[in-house]
Parts: sequence; C-alpha cells; structure tokens
Amino acid sequence: MSTQTLLTVKNVTKRFGGLVALNDVSFEIKEKEIVGIIGPNGAGKTTLFNVITGFYHPDAGRIIFNGVDITKFRPDQICSLGLTRTFQLVKPFKDLTVFENILIGALLKRSKAAAVEKAEKVLKDLDLEKMRNIPVKNIPIAERKIVEAARALATEPKMLLLDEVAAGLNPTETVKILETLKKVREQGVTLCLVEHVMRFIMGISERILVLDRGVKIAEGPPSEIAANESVIQAYLGVKYA
Ligand SMILES: Nc1ncnc2c1ncn2[C@@H]1O[C@H](COP(=O)(O)OP(=O)(O)O)[C@@H](O)[C@H]1O
Ligand SMILES: [Mg+2]
Repeated sequence: MSTQTLLTVKNVTKRFGGLVALNDVSFEIKEKEIVGIIGPNGAGKTTLFNVITGFYHPDAGRIIFNGVDITKFRPDQICSLGLTRTFQLVKPFKDLTVFENILIGALLKRSKAAAVEKAEKVLKDLDLEKMRNIPVKNIPIAERKIVEAARALATEPKMLLLDEVAAGLNPTETVKILETLKKVREQGVTLCLVEHVMRFIMGISERILVLDRGVKIAEGPPSEIAANESVIQAYLGVKYA
C-alpha cells in the first residue's frame, strides 16, 4: 500500500445554528485505502461528506485533497480534481438510460467521443451491459446504486465517497455492491464509505472512523473498533458482538 496521503481533514467544525454537527474532526486517508465511517444516526456522517465535497463549507478547519486546499471550492471544482461522491438517497437521472447516466459522468472530463468510450468501459467493468438501454426508473434499487457508483466512476475519480450504499439492500444485492466496490478498488480508486450495515463495512474497510454527535471517538482497524468500549457504548451495543 502506498503511504501517500490523499485526503486531509483538519480540525473541521460545522454548525447548523446552535447544533454542532461536526466538532473539530481530523483524520487522513491515504492513497488506495478503504476507510469506513460509522456512527449513530445524526452523528454527522453525511455532513462530513457534504463538507468534504463542497456542498457545505466548514465553519472552521481545512480540507486538503491531493495537495490542494479545497476548503472553499465548489462541488464541481472538487469533482474535477478527482474527488467524487454518491448520495445517501440515490439521485440518478431517472428518465435516462443506464448508459446515458454513466455517460453524464464521463462527459465531465472528456470530449463526446472519448466519453462514450469511457462510459462503454465502465458499463462493461461493472457488468451493466444487459441493462444498457433501460431507463433507470425501471431498474431495481440495488442496480440503481450500482449505476450511481458507475456514474461516479466514469468521472475518473482518485477517490470515491459512498454514503450508505448498502442501506435497504438484501444480502444478495449487498454482495453485488461489494463485488462492484472491489472492482472499483482494483482500478486504483481510494474509497471512503459511510455505512450502517456493520457486516458490510467491517468486511470491506481497512480502517474505521467512528463519529458520535459530531466528534471522532475512535479510529482503527475493524477488529480493534469492534472491541472498543466507547464505540460499543455509543453505537454497536450488543448488535455486532
Ligand atoms: N442542512 C442542515 N440543516 C440543519 N441541520 C442539519 C443539516 N444537515 C444535517 N443537519 C443536522 O446535523 C446532524 C448530523 O446530520 P447528518 O450528518 O445527516 O448525520 P448522519 O449522516 O450521521 O446520520 C443532525 O442532527 C442533523 O439533523
Ligand atoms: Mg447520513
């Protein structure tokens, strides 16, 4: 594994009125790492993704991606630098086909002809060829999530942030997403996942960060996190034990 730092989140605080959604959060993600972020509902996980990808700006702290201070950048500028995210509530273009959705991602950095080529490759890599011409509104939610990941992947990210990609999926569908993410990983993309499905995130992550009420309360390999007293109290309970 490379030891190059790709993302640095430094003392980030985000408030909504009187609510401190993120409280002095700091961590780093290295190139090619798979990092999971867990924590109870309302812990600040989605806010963290929103702040990293420029949908919100932090009240304090800095975010550095691939050597560039992106703290005040817009989402499209951040995406152009190679940092892309998916949404907790999937947002595909429902009337467009699977292929067209992927093409939209590919068009971010490429001319039309090159984008078509890139979209074809992603379609094939993620095993979506059979669904190519189906409007996204007509495919099941699990596949929509894969299309969402495919669209993100077509932007050629260095790093992909995935918000609850396994939520609401059955075990078979979860396995499918897992395989998809492994393929994404093999292409050299660094992954950061927010997830509620413990088996899923513990299985795929090399390192886990735990947020509780806006504070990072723990960070470490999955085995360590699963045995961490304060994590068990805040979140895991007896569920994962
Ligand atoms: N746009 C917003 N305006 C006001 N409060 C928000 C906004 N977004 C999130 N929050 C609040 O910030 C806290 C963290 O939310 P969120 O990041 O969505 O948590 P998680 O994704 O961990 O469940 C919650 O209390 C939530 O209600
Ligand atoms: Mg969330």
